[in-house]
This record gives sequence, C-alpha cells and structure tokens, in this order.
Amino acid sequence: MSAVAAWLAGEISPEVALGRLLLDGLTPAEIMRAVPPGSALARLAGRQQANLHAVARMLTRARVHHAGAQDPQAIARMFDRAVAEAPDASVAAYTLNDSDVAARATAEIVDWLVAGGLAVGPVLDLGSGTGRVAAALAPHVDHVLGLDVSAGMVAEAKRRYGTNLRLRFEVTGGQAPDHLPAGSFGLVLAVDSFPYLIQSGLADAHMAVSARLLKPGGALVILNLAYDGSETDCIDRWSGMFGLSVELRGARPFLLWDGRAFVMRREWPAQPAPERPGRAAG
Ligand SMILES: C[S@@+](CC[C@H](N)C(=O)[O-])C[C@H]1O[C@@H](n2cnc3c(N)ncnc32)[C@H](O)[C@@H]1O
Repeated sequence: MSAVAAWLAGEISPEVALGRLLLDGLTPAEIMRAVPPGSALARLAGRQQANLHAVARMLTRARVHHAGAQDPQAIARMFDRAVAEAPDASVAAYTLNDSDVAARATAEIVDWLVAGGLAVGPVLDLGSGTGRVAAALAPHVDHVLGLDVSAGMVAEAKRRYGTNLRLRFEVTGGQAPDHLPAGSFGLVLAVDSFPYLIQSGLADAHMAVSARLLKPGGALVILNLAYDGSETDCIDRWSGMFGLSVELRGARPFLLWDGRAFVMRREWPAQPAPERPGRAAG
C-alpha cells in the first residue's frame, strides 16, 4: 500500500507518510503533487517544506538505503554521513528533522516503556544513535549505556548529552558487546537498530549476548525487528535458544511512529520445589 493510501486508511501518521515518501525517493515538489490537495497531509507537507528539503538532501548525500546485506562498517559510514547532514532525521526520517516531532516521537516511546514497567535500569541502548531515547529514559532509570557502530552518531550523542552523568555513549565495531558483565542490565533496548543487525548477519550474536547481559526478569525490547516484516519467526527461534519468554510480538503501540514492538524477558531460574515434611513413622 502506498504511503498516501496508508495515511488515508488511518494506518500511519502524516509524519510517517511524509517520511516514507521521502524514503521512496520523492522530491518535496513530487510529494506536494502526490498528497490529496487541501488535506491535513498536504498542510503538514506545506509547513515542513524546508525540512522536507533537508531530509531529501540527507537521504541523497548519505546514500541511505534499507535493502540488502551490508557489513557493519558500511552501515557506520552511512550513518556518519546522515548525522552530519540532518541529525534528527538521521535516526528517523519521519521526524522530518524537526526537533519538536523528534521530541514527541521519543516521548511516546519512553512513556510506553515506563507505563509497561519496562524502564528498569541499568539500560543498554543498542544502536543508540544521537542518544535521544537514552536521554529521555535517563530520568526513569539509574544509568543508560548507549552503544553505536557510527562514530558520528556517538559524537553527536556526546555533544548533546555529554554532561548527563546517567548516560555513557561508546563506539563499537558493530559486534555484540560480550565484554560487558553478565546479568547487569534491567533492560536491553534496540530502537530501529535490529534491522541493521539482521542486514549485517549479527542479529543472532547480539541476541545471545543480550540474553546473557539481562538480569533475571529483565526485558529485551526490540522496536522494529526488520524493515520487510519477514523476520518475526526469529523471535520463536531466539526464545527457545536463549531462554527468553515472548511477551509481545510485533504490536504497534505508538500513534506517531509505526514501529513494531517485540518484548522478550529473561526467565527467572527455576526454584527447587520446597521440601515437604516427611511423614512421621508410625
Ligand atoms: C535508525 S538508527 C536509530 C538510532 C536510535 N536507536 C534512535 O532510535 O534514535 C539505527 C542506529 O543503529 C546503529 N547501528 C547499526 N548497526 C549497528 C551495530 N552493528 N552495532 C551498533 N549500532 C549499530 C546505527 O549506527 C544507527 O545509529
């Protein structure tokens, strides 16, 4: 279904519709011709003309694409270029590089985590980007460690939030962080980063390490698993392989963002059954 049809059907927000049209390669002028004249979508596109140009430029210059296998260093270079062009849109085109839209989208993610009792620290934010989610989550948890393969993203996160003592951001080589101590995180969070782990063939390794890093009862929250929607059966495989129970499987809990939510929990170790008092010999 086209982005405009999906918006008309009430399936996606106008911001996501414009983000999709940009990702489909339409120019701002083509977008104005594609949206229904006089509609709320046309009015938003009109108000956001300057930002639509900025996002279109970023997508072209950073050569952003979501298809095919890529090695993590190629992905890192793509995000380095994107964040240098348009920081808010570099992590999410649907923000239209508008900091107010980005703040609203981030708030709905964090509000959902808090309401669901998932904001339990310390938190590992896998693929933390500009640090927007880590920073919004920080007041609710004791500490967030953000890891990202893109040095440009980590530099932007430190520029924005470097003075926040609850946050730490580090560049990785893209591999799963198996140097971190087992059982040390209440939440491992991956917002829109798993599709890249899948593209680079690193998803299984990241799952294995994430499951080990969780405290018993801790949650692994993946928001968007794969952009083509074809990977949901990974969840059952990972659940069996790594002792995680599945609590949510691809729900769409947000109004602004159309991200799909997957929640898995590290099970508590089985408790030995209490000994029953023996029967007195008679
Ligand atoms: C779409 S952005 C989302 C960023 C952030 N989670 C957010 O929602 O604002 C995806 C991020 O994942 C990072 N990434 C991709 N592959 C990675 C890997 N193998 N290890 C760590 N980060 C990775 C990218 O550099 C990028 O910053």
